[in-house]
Amino acid sequence: MDLRLAGHGALVTGSSSGIGATIAETLADEGCDVLVHGRNAGAAAAVAERIAARGVRAEVVLGDLTEPGVAEQVALTARDFGARILVNNAGPFAEHDWESSRPSDWRAAFEGNVLPTMRVSQTLLPSLRAYGWGRVITIGSRAVRTPLPNMVAYSAAKAAVVNMTTSLARHLAGTGVTANCVSPGVIVSPSMYRMFEQRAASEDGGGASQSGTEGGQAGGPMDGPDEADLVAEYAPNPSGRLGRPEDIAVAVAYLASPRADYVNGIELRVDGGITGTP
Ligand SMILES: NC(=O)c1ccc[n+]([C@@H]2O[C@H](COP(=O)([O-])OP(=O)(O)OC[C@H]3O[C@@H](n4cnc5c(N)ncnc54)[C@H](OP(=O)(O)O)[C@@H]3O)[C@@H](O)[C@H]2O)c1
Repeated sequence: MDLRLAGHGALVTGSSSGIGATIAETLADEGCDVLVHGRNAGAAAAVAERIAARGVRAEVVLGDLTEPGVAEQVALTARDFGARILVNNAGPFAEHDWESSRPSDWRAAFEGNVLPTMRVSQTLLPSLRAYGWGRVITIGSRAVRTPLPNMVAYSAAKAAVVNMTTSLARHLAGTGVTANCVSPGVIVSPSMYRMFEQRAASEDGGGASQSGTEGGQAGGPMDGPDEADLVAEYAPNPSGRLGRPEDIAVAVAYLASPRADYVNGIELRVDGGITGTP
């Protein structure tokens, strides 16, 4: 199926690695020009190079979205790039529970997930409205529907971005711009891999026993512990596997496409059915 994405421009925040990089490359595969974003210049340049090799336009914009003014500057660069598709992907996670979390942890969760989504979207919206077509796609989490006991602040922040998606879709009624959310399950990404390594190290090198994890083993193909064991211990889901960045990227590409004109204000769960699984 032709998604009719060729020639569109996209900004994917946090696309210098992880799920965002795969989203950026998948959009490029569909013919999109892509503005790659991150903080690490070398990593972002490498993704942009891979995208340009596909014959589309690729540029890089750098900046920490939690710093004052940076989100707005990134959005203005996207406007000038011609981005009509915004993927709010950057959304750091950290482990805190109700007993140990401090106000600063909650602030960081909201400053990393909620405010960049608001600030980049708000700054880019006038150009999307003027063009009469656009897409705002925000990456949520399975933690929206099943808050993680070890990531309470992050879970609440991700719930907020789904709520924001609903209100934004209503606000944009009749403009040709849609707002949707994709909520990943447990996805094999480098940051997930690091989290599991840290957790294993803090538990004397044994397997972690904490339930309610955001992620599983990560880093590409499952070349570490047995995936089935990880699924059973950390992420039981009806599909019986961990997710891959590609699972998220194809969902984003569909929602970004003109084919999805009639899909608006939704949270699309791409989580193997983990949500609601005890
Ligand atoms: N992995 C999962 O299992 C999972 C599950 C549910 C939801 N999610 C959500 O999916 C999205 C992507 O996840 P991921 O696992 O790919 O995450 P990740 O590996 O932590 O994403 C890293 C990307 O985000 C950028 N980034 C992080 N903080 C930033 C900041 N303050 N300012 C600018 N860029 C920033 C990084 O830039 P640099 O490296 O260049 O600094 C990099 O491009 C996130 O919203 C995450 O919450 C992930």
